Amino acid sequence: MGRGQSLGTGRSSQTGRRVTPVGRVIRQATFEDRDAILAVVRDAFSDGPGDGHEEIDIVESTWLLDAAVLELELVAIHHGEVVGHVLTAFGDLGGRQVAGVAPLAVRPSSQGVGVGTELMTELLHSAQLAGLPLIVLLGSPAYYRRFGFELAGPLGIFYRPDGVANPHFQVCRLTNYDPSWYGDFVYCWEGA
Ligand SMILES: CC(C)(COP(=O)(O)OP(=O)(O)OC[C@H]1O[C@@H](n2cnc3c(N)ncnc32)[C@H](O)[C@@H]1OP(=O)(O)O)[C@@H](O)C(=O)NCCC(=O)NCCS
Repeated sequence: MGRGQSLGTGRSSQTGRRVTPVGRVIRQATFEDRDAILAVVRDAFSDGPGDGHEEIDIVESTWLLDAAVLELELVAIHHGEVVGHVLTAFGDLGGRQVAGVAPLAVRPSSQGVGVGTELMTELLHSAQLAGLPLIVLLGSPAYYRRFGFELAGPLGIFYRPDGVANPHFQVCRLTNYDPSWYGDFVYCWEGA
């Protein structure tokens, strides 16, 4: 497996490290975290009707393609254990690279205490610092609205596999966004 690609901002895994008031550490994921990350993703997505295999496939495909964006793949650590993870990789939007988040996962026993919020807040902060124009994702609008995500369709940004009117496909516009960013989005693992 490869290690991923850098945004080239010069932010090391140490400078990207945050300690929350309750002692959780939010930092870049490392190669050594990978087994623990897969366990968190499986547990998070098998807590409901699914068994987590689709999300595990996404994570493993992204790693195999070396497509994870290093500064935007983060883990939350509590008492020395990985309790949350978020992965970002560049996909294609109308011929230009755009970062897509997939998936965000928090271990069931650690849900509802702010871990997902900490991961997304740090991710968006890093994306903003790196000068990215936008971030896309598929997820619950009720959850992601709080971070500034909005419906992608009205901006001319579509994810065709789930239908052009799918309310789960969302965009967070960052400072460098402009309306020239539109088209059909293709995740990295779909592009081959
Ligand atoms: C969704 C998930 C990442 C949220 O992380 P978390 O650490 O539990 O969330 P936080 O503690 O930061 O935020 C809790 C808030 O999010 C809300 N929330 C959690 N999951 C939600 C969902 N699927 N849809 C809407 N709101 C949701 C909670 O109701 C709570 O709301 P409140 O602040 O108004 O009380 C996590 O619950 C998880 O891993 N779920 C299973 C995997 C999954 O569905 N991932 C994709 C997310 S669309």
